[in-house]
Amino acid sequence: MVSASYLFVLFSAFVVAFAAPTTLEEEDADYILTDRNSLVKRQDYTQNYKTGGNVQFSTTTDGYSVTFSGAADFVVGRGWKTGTSRNITYTGAHKATAGTVTFQVYGWSKNPLVEYYIIEDYTSASQFGGGGGAGGGTKGTLTVDGSDYTIYETTRTNDPSIVGTSTFHQYISVRKDKRQSGTITTQAHFDAWSAAGMKLGTMDYQVLSTEGYNNAAGSTNEKLSTGAASAVAPAAAPSST
Ligand SMILES: *[C@@H]1O[C@H](CO)[C@@H](O)[C@H](O)[C@H]1NC(C)=O
Repeated sequence: MVSASYLFVLFSAFVVAFAAPTTLEEEDADYILTDRNSLVKRQDYTQNYKTGGNVQFSTTTDGYSVTFSGAADFVVGRGWKTGTSRNITYTGAHKATAGTVTFQVYGWSKNPLVEYYIIEDYTSASQFGGGGGAGGGTKGTLTVDGSDYTIYETTRTNDPSIVGTSTFHQYISVRKDKRQSGTITTQAHFDAWSAAGMKLGTMDYQVLSTEGYNNAAGSTNEKLSTGAASAVAPAAAPSST
């Protein structure tokens, strides 16, 4: 005779199998990048977030909002604790009226330690590819999601990072045809970087973000999702008779 507890174990295994579908589903953003967890001194700017002007950040349903003026270095955003090759869809508005401002998917990997950017909108293209004396240069071009992107790699030496002061690479894709809403096929960037010898390691956080400095003024109000082209309905839970 089969014991009740044996049946319970079988049933539990069945429930677990159905509770963890392998199909892609919409994921909620689970990470908020604010002045509290962004890097204290991200580059060699003379002012930091706290002394540099006015930055009002708040989270919204599935997104974030920030308005800023007279701002020195800041970076804020919303995304995921762990980066993946998820497709990231963002919808809303972003504008900059002064200073140096970028709007991007931004993340880190460890082993190797890499700070990466997929930049969708920006005030000046001249800041990339070694601006600020970082060196580096163009590593190629990628065409995806309706535009060319120029790929850059730079080296940061003894700079702040998610593991403290360190030397690491930055991988940067800069979109030629700027936009404020769209879907980013992150895998295409990771593949293009890899083909150029720019490897990522273990993924850390991955956020849609706004960064500004040089008396930056503007605003971002965006909603984000994983933008699964064809979301699969969750499997039905088993029913007992
Ligand atoms: C991203 O979207 C493309 C279609 O544009 C799809 O082929 C791919 O599987 C998606 N990737 C992920 C990780 O969902």
